[in-house]
Amino acid sequence: MSEKSNTPEIKKGLVGVYADVSTISKVMPETNSLTYGGYAVQDLCESCSFEEVAYLLWHGELPTAAQLEAFRREEAAQRAISPALHRVIREFPHDGHPMDAIRTAVSFMGLEDPEAGDVSDAAQRRKAMRLLAKIPTCIAAAHRASKGLEPIEPNPAHSFGENFFNLVFGKVPQPEVLKAFDVSLILYAEHTFNASTYTARLVTSTGADIHGAITAAIAALKGPLHGGANEAVMHMLKEIGDPKIAREWLQSRFDHKALVMGFGHRVYKSGDSRVPTMRKYAEKMAEVVGDRTWMEISRILADEMLTKKNIHPNLDFPAGPAYYLMGFDIPLFTPIFVASRITGWAAHVFEQGADNRLIRPLSWYTGPEQRPVPALDAR
Ligand code: ACO
Repeated sequence: MSEKSNTPEIKKGLVGVYADVSTISKVMPETNSLTYGGYAVQDLCESCSFEEVAYLLWHGELPTAAQLEAFRREEAAQRAISPALHRVIREFPHDGHPMDAIRTAVSFMGLEDPEAGDVSDAAQRRKAMRLLAKIPTCIAAAHRASKGLEPIEPNPAHSFGENFFNLVFGKVPQPEVLKAFDVSLILYAEHTFNASTYTARLVTSTGADIHGAITAAIAALKGPLHGGANEAVMHMLKEIGDPKIAREWLQSRFDHKALVMGFGHRVYKSGDSRVPTMRKYAEKMAEVVGDRTWMEISRILADEMLTKKNIHPNLDFPAGPAYYLMGFDIPLFTPIFVASRITGWAAHVFEQGADNRLIRPLSWYTGPEQRPVPALDAR
């Protein structure tokens, strides 16, 4: 048998590989649907707050009113960050990317956490709550520091969404904007074994703590093929600028065989289940602001991509303009994804920890055969 025929089947990019079982969420590409704990994500968006969905992801069931109240109180009580972390954040280079800032802040919080080395399920859950509560404070403090502004103290009376807006802008927007933001957080919260979530599980499988797992997950999420796409989408829409030239712009991307950000998905090949809901709320934001430019360019790009390439948009495509219309600076888009996805990442950290086996795949070696080491002067 030739050497080549001995090669095991390599699933490049682990395409189509089931790496473990999970009870957290289910993607059904054949019906373009996604459920968290058995609930359709679009139903959760219409009926629940982000906090209820966070509880669902961490406990497997939606909370009762009393459980929700306790969850909210616990989260709201832990939003403040230490003076030391505030000092570190003020020292961050002001032109650095906020994803690097939040990655560093989470790592720093791991150093400070009183239960840092405790990877018991109870301790990991307490640390996850602290991360959920403090990540928005870090994102907003770093953002404001980069603009020469003082940080704003979190207000425990605010909901998670209200708190985020208040920390960034110093005010809470109208209910339609808050609802659209909450919907985006619910849609971004969880999505099975995507690259960042699998990174968190892999780090957890070594016995490392949750701050390490989340730091690594943030690094993975930053990439433009993953979470970074929501920022890339808005840069693209701004570069096009005018619906009249959208088709021509897209054709030049096709001519250069370039990627069009916010399109395509590893799992969904006939449409991302989260897009219709996010698009509906992005359209509402366009109405609130009174500017349809970005949604009009988006519509043209989506139509053309479907007709000419048979490629559908993913969640980042409507989320990018929605956040822009809510008033957020583009470099905050992927950090907002972090503020939401910490819930899904943590759920996977708990699940991996509960039934752990070290994740350690094999590589099929294709380098040179074994050979003697030549002396330095003989190379
Ligand atoms: N623009 C242009 N062509 C595309 C795009 C796109 N966005 N996405 C896929 N294609 C093409 C590929 O070039 C490929 O064409 P080929 O068969 O002629 O080579 C074909 O469609 C199949 O795509 P794959 O690369 O096999 O898809 P894969 O599953 O490996 O990649 C990915 C998925 C990374 C998301 C890809 O679609 C992409 O890079 N999209 C742009 C980045 C993006 O929007 N990422 C966000 C993902 S969702 C999220 O993280 C929330």
